[in-house]
Amino acid sequence: MSLLLQTQALSLSFGAIVAADSIDFELHEGERLAVIGQNGAGKTTFINICTGLVRPDSGIVMFDGKAITGKSPREIVRLGMARSFQIPQLFMDCTVRQCLELSGVARQKKLSLVTNLSMANDSTELDHILELVGLRDRQHELCENLPEGQRKLLDIAMSLMLRPRLLIMDEPTSGVSTEEKHSIMEILMRALDEQKTTSIFVEHDVDIVKQYATRVAAWISGAVAADDSPEIVLADPLIQKEVLGI
Ligand SMILES: Nc1ncnc2c1ncn2[C@@H]1O[C@H](COP(=O)(O)OP(=O)(O)OP(=O)(O)O)[C@@H](O)[C@H]1O
Ligand SMILES: [Mg+2]
Repeated sequence: MSLLLQTQALSLSFGAIVAADSIDFELHEGERLAVIGQNGAGKTTFINICTGLVRPDSGIVMFDGKAITGKSPREIVRLGMARSFQIPQLFMDCTVRQCLELSGVARQKKLSLVTNLSMANDSTELDHILELVGLRDRQHELCENLPEGQRKLLDIAMSLMLRPRLLIMDEPTSGVSTEEKHSIMEILMRALDEQKTTSIFVEHDVDIVKQYATRVAAWISGAVAADDSPEIVLADPLIQKEVLGI
């Protein structure tokens, strides 16, 4: 499978804190990579750098063979890399459907003060995404009324509207019950498979990692301490001690 995302010697410090410590990383098309690591290990920082939200002090990010270091998040989304956030970033006073419509016009660069959101979107595509993430029944609900699990799914659905080749999800199951975690992951993986989207997801729950990842990268102090199959990384004594706390 072809190389989709690559970083070379990616570094970033915040004062004395080394949040990214010379990270060399590769992701191939079709992978489902789980990123694990203790709080503050640098997982979100890595995502922020790759998606253009934060500039590294040094190093390179390549996406699909092109250097994208320093490009804006908008440019990076248009190249095919999207993300969801640790805390869902929704338009709280919009309905579920309107949020997806906004994402759709963002992809098509059509948004202006006079854009008619529903006319600017393909309603069949919208219905399909709503169906995929199980939110069709709630499409006219205001976001502020959604429980956390459905907010997470909507945040991801908004990313899917951008039709990314790579979707990076920062803790898609945080803040929900154990049972709900599994149903969110089932919905998510089905949607990603259908759209043939490669994915990275940050996850603290080992059961979820075992069940859904094809590969695991473990972060310690801003660096990738292990990167291999779930079986190998989760059985690594250093990772068990420093990351999993067992
Ligand atoms: N904008 C910032 N300014 C200063 N320090 C920051 C900033 N962003 C991150 N950090 C620090 O960099 C380190 C890595 O943070 P990061 O958010 O990447 O960790 P994380 O692995 O995502 O943690 P969590 O599991 O809690 O989400 C932490 O020590 C954090 O406090
Ligand atoms: Mg984080």
